[in-house]
Amino acid sequence: MYSTLLTHLEKGIFTITINRPEKLNALNREVMNDLDKAFDEVYDNNEIRSVIITGAGPKSFVAGADITEFSGLNKQQGIELAKKGQDVFLKIENSPKPVVAAVNGFALGGGCELAMACHFRIASEQAKFGQPEVNLGLIPGYGGTQRLTMLVGKGKAMEMILSSLTINAAEALQSGLVNYVVPAEELLSKTISILELINTKAPVAVSQSIASVNAFFTGDGYPAEINNFGKCFETDDVKEGIKAFVEKRKPNFTGK
Ligand code: COA
Repeated sequence: MYSTLLTHLEKGIFTITINRPEKLNALNREVMNDLDKAFDEVYDNNEIRSVIITGAGPKSFVAGADITEFSGLNKQQGIELAKKGQDVFLKIENSPKPVVAAVNGFALGGGCELAMACHFRIASEQAKFGQPEVNLGLIPGYGGTQRLTMLVGKGKAMEMILSSLTINAAEALQSGLVNYVVPAEELLSKTISILELINTKAPVAVSQSIASVNAFFTGDGYPAEINNFGKCFETDDVKEGIKAFVEKRKPNFTGK
């Protein structure tokens, strides 16, 4: 179905593996189009409850946008490329279902930006993060200047972007870029165990939580939270959640 992605749906968890290991999973146009389509599937398929994005092979999550596609671009083409990248990554960030990056190696340039567009990140001990675009005479264009600043703060983001500083998994954990660092062989099992827990929660409440946290970054977080809190009362699940609490039993959420 996708020429550059492997996908697998099991127990509601949709795993998307970017599959160009010979090019360290660099994001060419085809990968970006496939990711765009894969997220249509995420939005539309009711069997998908949550998503993992990872990279094929032992070495790389994604080593950046495909540099070979940059040669000869003019200003307008550069703007269009960045716009397309930002649109796809915003679709991931605004996914109503949780999306976690399982970062199994290099997450550089567009790879770091892709990981940051996910709702949170788990890294293997081999992971490395950086925005090395200035080495190419470029800047991050798929949201990196914004999301890195939000995640690690202005000073660290400036240092990483201006100097092309690459940080290892332990430094990424310390900077708040990732939530956990685990041995490579435990990366997927750790990610799955967190998503299995999230998948037991009320789906509409999970979606509205994502939308409300994301609204912090667009500046209308408080009114968005009020509205999204209200929307939860339209669900059967809120009735079930409250009833189950009173009856001292586990809730049985249906997503309605
Ligand atoms: N775009 C296109 N191709 C890439 C790529 C990218 N971002 N990153 C790696 N590749 C390709 C290499 O050209 C090489 O292809 P080849 O075998 O046909 O020559 C292949 O992937 C393997 O990469 P290689 O450089 O040989 O691996 P390495 O272990 O020596 O180095 C990196 C790994 C990540 C340090 C190095 O590949 C690199 O610096 N990549 C670019 C990172 C970057 O600047 N990303 C931001 C882009 S905006």
